[in-house]
Formats: sequence, C-alpha cells, structure tokens
Amino acid sequence: MAKRYAHVTGWGMAAPDRILTNDDLARMVDTTDDWILSRTGISERHIAEKGETTATLAENAALRALESTDITAKDLDLIIVATSTPEYIFPSTACIVQDQIGATHAGAFDLSAACTGFIYAINMAAQAIRTGSIENALVIGAETLSLFTNWEDRNTCVLFGDGAGAFVLQASDRPGGVLTCIMRSDGSGANLLSLPAGGSKLPTTHETVDKKQHTIQMKGREVFRFATRVMASATREAVSLAEWALDDVTWVIPHQANMRIIEAASRGLRMPLEKFVINLSRYGNTSTASIPIAACEALQSGRIQDGDNLVLVGFGAGLTWGALTLKWVSPERKISRAARRRRAFLMLLARMRSFVRRLIRKIEGLIWGTSSGDQR
Ligand code: ACO
Repeated sequence: MAKRYAHVTGWGMAAPDRILTNDDLARMVDTTDDWILSRTGISERHIAEKGETTATLAENAALRALESTDITAKDLDLIIVATSTPEYIFPSTACIVQDQIGATHAGAFDLSAACTGFIYAINMAAQAIRTGSIENALVIGAETLSLFTNWEDRNTCVLFGDGAGAFVLQASDRPGGVLTCIMRSDGSGANLLSLPAGGSKLPTTHETVDKKQHTIQMKGREVFRFATRVMASATREAVSLAEWALDDVTWVIPHQANMRIIEAASRGLRMPLEKFVINLSRYGNTSTASIPIAACEALQSGRIQDGDNLVLVGFGAGLTWGALTLKWVSPERKISRAARRRRAFLMLLARMRSFVRRLIRKIEGLIWGTSSGDQR
C-alpha cells in the first residue's frame, strides 16, 4: 500500500455571541481590568447563553469545518469530541453531534485530556487515517467552562471562556499533514486542577452542591510552574521527532491559558513571540477549544500558508501535556454550488432522520411497552 498521510482539509469555529469583559467581572468579584490583563493577558471572553451547550457549539464548529471541504457528514468514519465539559457524563457529546450533523457511517466518542485533548484527538485520528483503517475524521475541541465555574471565586472565574473549534482530517498520498506527536501525563498532579464532584469518587449530594464542588478547583501557581516547564520541552521533543530544527518552525499554536506562560515558552525556546499564534485576549482560556480556535483565526486571516511548519502545543488537567507537528498543505478543492446545496439538503435530512427515529422509538414504546420485560 502507498504511504498515506493525514491532512487537515477543513476547519471551523464557533463562539457564543455574549461577551463578558474584565470590567463586567470587576462588578462581580474583587478584581480589576488591570489585574486580569497584566497577570493573564485576557481582556474578554465569550460566555454561553441559555440553550447554548457544548454540543451546540461543537455542532456549529463541525458544520463550518465540513463546509470548507468536498465531503459531507455521511463520508465521515470517525468523530472525536475532546472536552472536559461534556453534554452528559454519558452518552458522549460526540454521539449528539453525530446525530445532529447526520454522520450516519461514523463511530463517535469523547476524549478527556483537558486542555491537551485536541492534540491527543488529532493524533488518534491521524494514526487511524495513516494505518488505512479510516479515510475521513472530524475532530472537535468544545467547551462550556462557564457552566462549571464558581462565579464567586476570583482565582478562577477571570480565566475561562466558552467556544469550539473543529478540524476535518482526510487521507491523502500527498506528503505532509500531521507528522509527529508526543503525548504525556502525570496523574500525581491530578489535584492541582479538577472538578471534584459528580463522578464515582464524589457522587452528587446536597453537600457537594453546597460546597461548590461541581466547579473548577485550581492551584494556580503550581499549574503555572508546571505549564512553563512543559510547553518548551514538549515542543522541542515533537520538533526533533519530525527531524526539524526549531528554526524550521513557521508557527507555534499554543494552548491559550495565560500570556505569561506563552512568553515563558517563547523565551525557553529562544523563538520570537511573533511566531506564536495568540488570541487569548479575546477568548480567555477555552481549554481544549483554544488551539483549534486560534488555528482557525490564523487560517481565516491567511497567516498560515501552504508549506508552513506548525507546532500545536498544550497542557492541562490530569496533568497532561503534548505537542504535535504538522506540515501545512493547502487543500486542493473546488466546491461547486451544487455541492453546497447537496450539503444543506443532507443537513435537513439528518434533522428529519433523527426526528423520525425518535418518533418510531416512541411508537414502539407505546406498542410494546418501555421496559425490556414488556417487550417479550
Ligand atoms: N483579581 C485580583 N487579585 C487576584 C485575582 C483576581 N482575579 N486572583 C488572584 N488574586 C490575588 C491572589 O489572591 C493573591 O493575593 P495574595 O498574595 O494576597 O494571596 C495575588 O493575587 C497573587 O496570586 P497568584 O496566584 O500568585 O497570582 P499569579 O500571578 O500566579 O496569577 C493565575 C494567578 C493567573 C491563576 C496564574 O497562576 C495562572 O495563570 N496559572 C495557570 C492557570 C492555568 O493555566 N490553568 C488552566 C490550565 S488548563 C486546563 O486544564 C483548564
């Protein structure tokens, strides 16, 4: 079999319309615009409104990513949603997206690796493509961190925002695409950044709710120290595996957590800050959505060009961290108006199919009863 490569052929992002500024936050907790901006680099963040969830943001990003390709949702073999704020513990958010976009031939699952999730997920999808097991994958990073934030805790509530970003990956015999990836973890730091309650260790009780244990808990200084250590080392490892020199890198797309962490990575790598794609001032930390959102903005503005060497690098709860190299090859495509119309029609069909399936299950329930015992 000829050598196969996994290329990013489509990209899309979604962020809620509602914006929360630092001044808005200063009216909610004891903080100032100056403190937040100087300590984090964040000016504002997007916050989900009623009806906006991780799945709706993921779905919107996915549709935009598919729109820029020559395939439809029916051609997808795999959907991975990287998220720490899923729609439910189960079913997976990926299955909700699969149903909504009509990806009737795709396997779908969620991946939990906090802010490193998108890097892990791209690596999983690229491996499956390169081995020949699948042709087309959709990888989404999506979060609604605002729904898991303690809005009375100034240590955390100023940091996070909501959003989603998606990549379509496709098999190709053109050299390039996803090249190397390193994935690392250290569970001894699990307590540094966590959402303690709602799982098997601390099931939901009145007490867990009263103690706000369903919101993000973070030891900021320790996470900061860990992050500044691993961003540079992970980048070096992935770059060396790709047999590049650091000078060969055109763009680093880092996890957007804190400007000071990105500056430390730039110093550690002796790489100018101008090579880093940075947009955290407008989004805050959107966890696993931050890298694809930054990538989408850089692609849409034309900053990333054919032949560029990219490094995606991130860190997060777990602890987890990782870096991935990608040789950017601009997709060859001509999307006709007929193809666009077909896509819109298939989307409508997907919604109708989902509705009809639910209806059939309801009718079956009425005829046969809803418990398995009744179905004998
Ligand atoms: N406004 C004003 N003062 C504040 C605020 C605030 N919003 N937050 C904290 N402070 C105070 C603290 O109470 C502290 O006061 P004290 O000295 O009287 O105790 C003082 O500011 C300094 O606090 P530090 O924690 O030392 O501040 P630091 O410079 O470390 O910045 C920050 C804090 C921004 C949280 C930083 O540590 C950081 O970015 N850490 C990494 C966090 C991160 O990246 N988390 C996400 C990981 S990814 C994921 O998986 C979601």
